[in-house]
Formats: sequence, C-alpha cells, structure tokens
Amino acid sequence: RRHSSGSESEPEEESHSSEEEKEEQKEEIEKASDSGLNAAEKPEESIKKTATNQQAVPSATVCQTASNKPSCKPAVFIPVDRAPEIQEARLKLPILAEEQSIMEAINENPVVVICGETGSGKTTQVPQFLYEAGYTSSTGAIGITEPRRVAAVSMSQRVAKEMNLSRRVVSYQIRYEGNVTDETQIKFMTDGVLLKEIQKDFLLSKYKVVIIDEAHERSMYTDILIGLLSRIVPLREKKGLPLKLIIMSATLRVEDFTENKRLFSAVPPVIQVDARQFPVTIHFNKKTPLDDYSGECFRKVCKIHRMLPSGGILVFLTGQAEVHSLCRRLRKAFPFQKNNTAGDDDKEESVEEIRKFKKSRKRKKAMTLPKIDLDNYSVIPVDEGDEDRDAETDDDVAGSDLDLDLGDADSEEDEKSDSSLPLYVLPLYSLLAPEKQAKVFRPPPPGTRLCVVATNVAETSLTIPGIKYVVDCGKVKKRFYDKITGVSSFRVTWTSQASANQRAGRAGRTEPGHCYRLYSSAVFMDFEQFSAPEITKRPVEDLILQMKALNIEKVINFPFPTPPPAEALAAAEELLIALGALKEPLMTGRPAVSEEETAKLKGKKARLLQMQRIWAGQGLLQKLGDLMVMLGAVGACEYAGCTPKFCEENGLRYKAMLEIRRLRGQLTTAVNSVCSDAGLYIDPKMKPPTEAQATYLRQIVLAGLGDHVARRAQAEELLDDKWKNAYKTALLDEPVFIHPSSILFKQLPEFVVYQEIVETTKLYMKGVSAVEPEWIPVLLPPYCHFGKPLENPPPSYCPETGRIRCHRPSVFYRVSWQLPAVEVD
Ligand code: CDP
Ligand code: MG
Repeated sequence: RRHSSGSESEPEEESHSSEEEKEEQKEEIEKASDSGLNAAEKPEESIKKTATNQQAVPSATVCQTASNKPSCKPAVFIPVDRAPEIQEARLKLPILAEEQSIMEAINENPVVVICGETGSGKTTQVPQFLYEAGYTSSTGAIGITEPRRVAAVSMSQRVAKEMNLSRRVVSYQIRYEGNVTDETQIKFMTDGVLLKEIQKDFLLSKYKVVIIDEAHERSMYTDILIGLLSRIVPLREKKGLPLKLIIMSATLRVEDFTENKRLFSAVPPVIQVDARQFPVTIHFNKKTPLDDYSGECFRKVCKIHRMLPSGGILVFLTGQAEVHSLCRRLRKAFPFQKNNTAGDDDKEESVEEIRKFKKSRKRKKAMTLPKIDLDNYSVIPVDEGDEDRDAETDDDVAGSDLDLDLGDADSEEDEKSDSSLPLYVLPLYSLLAPEKQAKVFRPPPPGTRLCVVATNVAETSLTIPGIKYVVDCGKVKKRFYDKITGVSSFRVTWTSQASANQRAGRAGRTEPGHCYRLYSSAVFMDFEQFSAPEITKRPVEDLILQMKALNIEKVINFPFPTPPPAEALAAAEELLIALGALKEPLMTGRPAVSEEETAKLKGKKARLLQMQRIWAGQGLLQKLGDLMVMLGAVGACEYAGCTPKFCEENGLRYKAMLEIRRLRGQLTTAVNSVCSDAGLYIDPKMKPPTEAQATYLRQIVLAGLGDHVARRAQAEELLDDKWKNAYKTALLDEPVFIHPSSILFKQLPEFVVYQEIVETTKLYMKGVSAVEPEWIPVLLPPYCHFGKPLENPPPSYCPETGRIRCHRPSVFYRVSWQLPAVEVD
C-alpha cells in the first residue's frame, strides 16, 4: 500500500503527564488564545483542484511548511477482511479514488480538511483508511465526532459491519450511552462527549487522530472543539506525541476554518472529493404556498407517484409531528395490500399485529392493575379510554382533485408510472428509534416505491440510497433566541440556499434526478446563503461556563471559527456573576428539560393530566409546581424499576428517564464522596421530598434563576385586558402566561420562577414554581436595591407603607416590585 510504508515509527509509549504538566499546558493554551497567536503563514506550495459542484468550493491546497514536518507516519499496514459485497459497494464510492491523496496529506500535515458531497463516503471510509494505514494501536484510537447522536450510533454500526470488526473495536459513545471497551480503536461520539473528555485530559492523549465530522453544520460544540484542537495539536507536537486533526465537511464554506488566521499556524490543505453527482433538474413552483406546505408536499408526492417512473422519493419537512402526519396521509392514499406487512412502522400494524394488540387489550381490561402507592409516588391503572388518538383530520381524498400535470409547468416528464404501486412510506428524524431509522437504508419491499419523509437529518448526516425525487418544502425549524429578552422560540423559517442545494443533491446520487421546490425561484434568491453558525445564535451562558471549566478565562480571546458577539459574551458573564455561578469553580450549566422531552410528555394526554395531579403532591409540595411533577414522575419511575412499560403507560420517555437516572447516579456518587466526612449521605433510592425539602428546592431554583422571576400583573396593568391572568417579567414589555400544561396554570401564584419562556400564540412560561416574595431580597440581593424609595416612583409605589422596593436598573429596570421589608446588615 502506497501510503502506509513510512519508515518513521512513532513512539508507542504514551506519556502520562503530571498535574503540573497539565497546568502548564493549560497555561500555554490560555496564552495562545489570549495573544491571538498563530497568524497564518502563507503556504509554500499549493495545488488547485477544480470542483464539479456548482456551489462555491474552496480552493484545494496542499501545503508543507517548515513547521509542519511529516511527523506521524505509521509503519504498518493493518489488513481488513471485508465481505465481497461490501468491498464492491465501497469501491464505487468517490472517496476511494482520493484515498492516496488523503493519506498523503494526513501523513504530511497535522491538520487536513476533507470536503466532499454528502454520500461520497467521508464518514464511513476515512476512519477505515486510517485504520488500515496503522493509525491505531493499543495506545491510541481514532476518534470521530458527530453533531447528531443518530449519526454517531448508526455510523459506528455501519463501519463495524463494513470492516467486519466487533462492536468492541468500532464503538460509539453518546451522552450516557455507548459500547466503548478497552479494545476500542475507532470511536464515534457526539461532539459534546469529546468536549467533556478534554475537560479530563486536555491533551486527548488516548487519540492518535481526531476527526471532526459534519463541520459545516457549525454546531456550537464542533466550533469549540475546532478552537481547542487548534491549540492541542501544536502542544501534542511539542510533547513528541503528534495528534492528527481531520476536519470533514460537505462542500460548504470551509473558509471559516482554513482562512481564519487565529486558528491554525499554517493554512491546512483542503482535499476536495469530486463526487459522482448526477444532474438534478430543479423545478420551482410558480407561486409559493404560504402556509400549507405540508399539504403541498402531499399533493406533489401523489403526483410524482402517479406520473413518474420508478425511483425513491425523499420529502423534506421541518419536524417530527409534520413528518408523522404526512406519513399517515400518504399511507392512507396509497395503502399496502392487506397481506403486505413489509412496510410496518410505528403506526402501520399488520393484520396479525392488530389482532394480537386487540387480544392484549382485552386481557388488559380483564385484569386489575396493581395500585402502587409509595408515599407520594402513586401509580393508577391505565384508563383504557385515554389511548393516544390520532387527532388527524383527514381532509384529503386521494387523487380526486389532483392536477396530474406536475404543476406550474415544472414537469417535462411524459412517462407514466403504474399508479397502483403501493408507496412504502418511512419517517426519518433524529429522535426516531435506531432500528426504525435503519429501515431507510434497506431496499423497499419488491413492487413498492420508497418514500422517506424526513427532517433535515437527511440533508447531510444520513444518505438514503435510491432517491430520484426530492420534494423540498424549503422550510426549516430553528430555535430562535432573543438576546435582549432571553426568550427562546421554535420557528419555522425559510432555509438557506446552501441547505436547499444539499437537499436537491440527494436526488442525484445514483442516477439523474428531480428536485421539486415548493417555492418560487424569486423566493429562493432571497434565502440567506448559509445558515449562521449555532454559536452566534444561542445563549452563551453555558458556553462561558464550559470554557471556564477548561480554565479558559478570557473567553473573548478564544479562537472560535466564528466568534459570538462580544457584547453577548460580556452580558452573559455579567449575568453569571450576578447569579453567583462564576464564583464557584467548575460550575456547569443548568440542567434544562429539553423541548423534545416536553414534547414526549405530550402523548397520552388525559392520563398524564391525572398523573400530573398525583405527582404534584399535597400541601407545600404543590408549590414546587412543575418541578415537583417532574420529581414525582422520576421518583415513581424509579420505584417501578424504570421499565419501558411503566414509561409507555405514563407518558414518559424511557430514554429520558434512563438519562435522568444515570445523571442522578453520577451526582449522588459525587456528592456522597465529598460529603461523607461531614456525615451527610444521599440515599440513591430517592425518597419523595418532605415539605421542608421541597421548600429548599424552591429556594435553590430561585437562587439559580434570578433573572427568571415573574410577578402577576398589577392593578395598573390590568386596566388593559391583555394582562388578564398574565405575569410581568423583568425583561419583557409583553405579558407572559403560565403554560396550560403547567400544574400551576390555574393557581396563578403571585410570584413565580420559570425555567424558560416559549413563544407560540402567546409568550408562555414553562417549568414554573411558586416563590415566596420575602425570599427575593434574601436570595437575590444583586437584583435588589435596598434603600429609600426612588425620587420618581413608578405608579405602584405606596408611600404609606414605606416598604423597601426591589429595584435594580440593570436587570429589573422596567419593574419596580414592592417586596416585604427585610433586615439587611
Ligand atoms: O459521509 P458522507 O456523507 O460523505 O458519506 P457516508 O455517510 O460515508 O456514506 C457512504 C455511503 O454509505 C452512502 O452511499 C450511504 O448510503 C452508505 N451507507 C449505508 O448504506 N448505510 C449506512 N448505515 C451508512 C451509509
Ligand atoms: Mg458523513
């Protein structure tokens, strides 16, 4: 093998650096990021390659500078025993043609960028090239990071299969889940996992190669990793333990990595993989449907299926609910024959399964479920009437009103297909169970046409074989964060030109294809060119805490590929200081209940409402509100043995429960190991809290979420009807409401603290707990002004009582809340 015959062998022994050395390294990193070192040197040699892709592609450069001597050339070639059909399939992948240039670039440079169309084989093949070239050993592994969990899991499975190696050798690690062993040599992980590893071992000494995959997605952790690795690579070089860094990306905007002078001391070479992309004809709609893009997708798929020759259809929608709803409509329109069970899915049971299900329901009805009543963690029998129903209103009569022309004069096809073919409809989104996701990689049952309805997970992370038609709604669901108000909301917006082009590209992987864009070309021209990196769009508090935990004091000087706005960093740091979070060493961000977790809780609504009331407890426990409900759910689940059945019956997400359990295990162990000397011990069995404990919990939450306090609208606000039942927060002019799903929705306590505000039809607070007003001056002094009333008091001021006002212009500048007097030393 041409690239694996290097004569230099690298030191086999790993150095185990002492604590002092680690400190030194951290200092060096800190210095490096402070002084903005590493201004890029000009490459001495550059080789340009042309790209076949119509998108802007960076020039490919191969450079060698004095500082980048060949340093890590393994001496051995490790044979891989692949199955013949696997070998045949991989030889067709465009990246195989580039193996030599990729390996030469890696041998000769510490940092290499590989850029290639989705599906060209980057993720599955580059780790195999490195393995064969001897880049792994008993002391060093290849680590590959993915921004999405689904990619980490499915790619490790795929690579293990291709290489015919055990999952003990090709493994994955995502948060709280993985199959990594001592034998692991190729490790797929989420970017967050590698970041955590850097906190423990700054030099990442167990890796010989780190591959940052899907770098174009510009997830926050990926960006931080690239910044950190730009410093770790030279440090490893200095120690004589070179680390190779490979950044892999779709053909999108890699200049942020290569031309960022603060990142790498020498411009890294960019290897462009020329993918065999077949032409894709783009069909724009003449008009842009304003709201019902999902209905428009349905109609377009129907037309394609009726009129166009065989070939898989891939539909891009924005979220899980839309995906399921379209799947249902399509399955109704093009049903499978009765005896055809190959396409079964979560909602599509075969006759046999339905029969079994009915039988089991009868059995269920016949027996009385045991009532578990462990103090406050009660479990009540499942109410058979509260099964999760499809709330779908089926307004589509398949085919009756369809215009068989593919609309908008956008079709030149005249071949007609057999419209009686069943459509094999599969959903695809990040949270779909891995075994259901795997279905899209398998050929559809004979005599059917594959139709995958996906979110943007199918844009670059996963490549579905056999797609000829893409239907692109042009939209994407994004989390928006208002830096001023601190409100996050999910909004469906137009996607970027780059991702629309990625979506279209999915149609031309195996033969010429067609992409139907459900919007006009004029609208496309108005799309932003690329989506902004995540780091510039989200709250930066947890980013700052992560960086501080890595001993990076001046976050503002960190070599981010795209730095977040300096004002946002400064404001976040101020907030963290006000909350007291930065005084404590190694504080981590707040554990938030994610939007997705809340959305799982949505199912089995009626039963959940019942359970909510039970879990909310009695007396003072109720004041802990939604947090008590969650605590009750976790406790009840724990007592029931945390089984999938319990979760299913009680509207809880099993995986989330497992995660909570593991996280709690970690925290209890940590706390018990620190506190045992003081005679403190946390019982891992998790008893329900006492009223006093629930009160402490409320105080802890208040102390941690000082900027998330809200007060019920006062008389002067109530003059305006829109303030009825509303709350006033410190940072918003608009009324906010307790979310209807909250246990405190009807109780409306005077003061509350909330976990987050989401914007739907109104601004809603979620994760709400009641707060006693007298706690505020005691627990949140930085937010209060203790002194005489202001000279120009706002209308709510009551001079007769002479009570102290809670006022601090920088935070509560719009609200002056009258609070009970407190004694202050
Ligand atoms: O990373 P990149 O997008 O360049 O390509 P890849 O993910 O390595 O995929 C290479 C090929 O492997 C594609 O044709 C995929 O369809 C195929 N593949 C597969 O058949 N099954 C998987 N689980 C993963 C990939
Ligand atoms: Mg990939």
